[in-house]
Amino acid sequence: MIILSVESSCDETSVAVCKGREVLSNIVATQIDEHKIYGGVVPEIASRRHTESISAVCDEAVKTAGIGYDDIEAVAVTFAPGLIGALLVGVNFAKGLSLSLGVPLIPVHHLRSHIAANYIAHPDLKPPFLCLLVSGGNTVLAEVTSYTEFNILGATLDDAAGECFDKAARFMGLSYPGGVTLDKIATTADTEKYPLPTPKTGENDLDFSFSGLKTAVINLIHRTNQRNEELDIPVLCATLRQKVCDILINATLKAAERGGYTKIALAGGVSANSELRARFEEECKNRNLELFYPPLKYCGDNAAMVGVQAFYEYESGNIASTDLNATATLPINYRK
Ligand code: KG4
Repeated sequence: MIILSVESSCDETSVAVCKGREVLSNIVATQIDEHKIYGGVVPEIASRRHTESISAVCDEAVKTAGIGYDDIEAVAVTFAPGLIGALLVGVNFAKGLSLSLGVPLIPVHHLRSHIAANYIAHPDLKPPFLCLLVSGGNTVLAEVTSYTEFNILGATLDDAAGECFDKAARFMGLSYPGGVTLDKIATTADTEKYPLPTPKTGENDLDFSFSGLKTAVINLIHRTNQRNEELDIPVLCATLRQKVCDILINATLKAAERGGYTKIALAGGVSANSELRARFEEECKNRNLELFYPPLKYCGDNAAMVGVQAFYEYESGNIASTDLNATATLPINYRK
């Protein structure tokens, strides 16, 4: 089944053509340079850029896939969660296309598609498995019980891990997206020089909390400035990165042991983090656990992962009608 998929939940306009797990094309027009000057994504600018570029990105995806519009058998779109104005551009574009081609419209949850990025590179990966989903807007630890069924074991109570990296990096004067820059310039952690707190999360020990950590870094930067001391940015980056990785890895391994999981997948933009990958590799090897993560090009937002998840959504009967709306927040285990 040939599916054309559309992604516009944040600052990448992307259209892909997929056939099951096979990616025939995946075009991504990023807006990062434009948002950089503001230190973060400006929602209205994001929506306007999606509106301007989506048709050309779509044409290029079809051309690169070597197909014609007549070959498309379904249109899929990210409908939630994300920036509402940005999502609406993709949803309305996809609706128009599915109507004009006379093919089904498949709604795809953004976090489900991040998990599906793993299916592209790992043809043998099948549920059930445990997944740590870490992105700019979400941090969720979930059991993937089937391609379209999820059991949330833990989630962030406040900021997402990516948000913590991005905001802390911004206060260090690093360019957006801060998580990427922070990972590049981090050297060696020094917890004596920069002691950071371990967040408390209440009753569920698989929940996360990152806002206190972010505030601790910001306060530390203010104190250093007030004392006219020089901030060792590469060491602070490494110390924060180490702390965030400790928190994510501890919770995931605990959940794997409790649930008897032998397969762990990482997903979302933060799964590109070099320390997170390296330490998970080591921990999983020591415990005989199988580890999966997407190739770097499928870690960030892209339409290929939407197309792959759409195939499973379609198989499970998840088809939208023309009144499909975008939704800014929606849990991964939502029911139709
Ligand atoms: O999944 P994503 O592209 O967008 C959302 O759906 O949120 O994730 C973007 C997040 C940003 O916070 C970015 O700083 C972070 O992923 N990120 C990283 C790295 N690459 C991207 N964080 C840490 N280390 C990285 N290498």
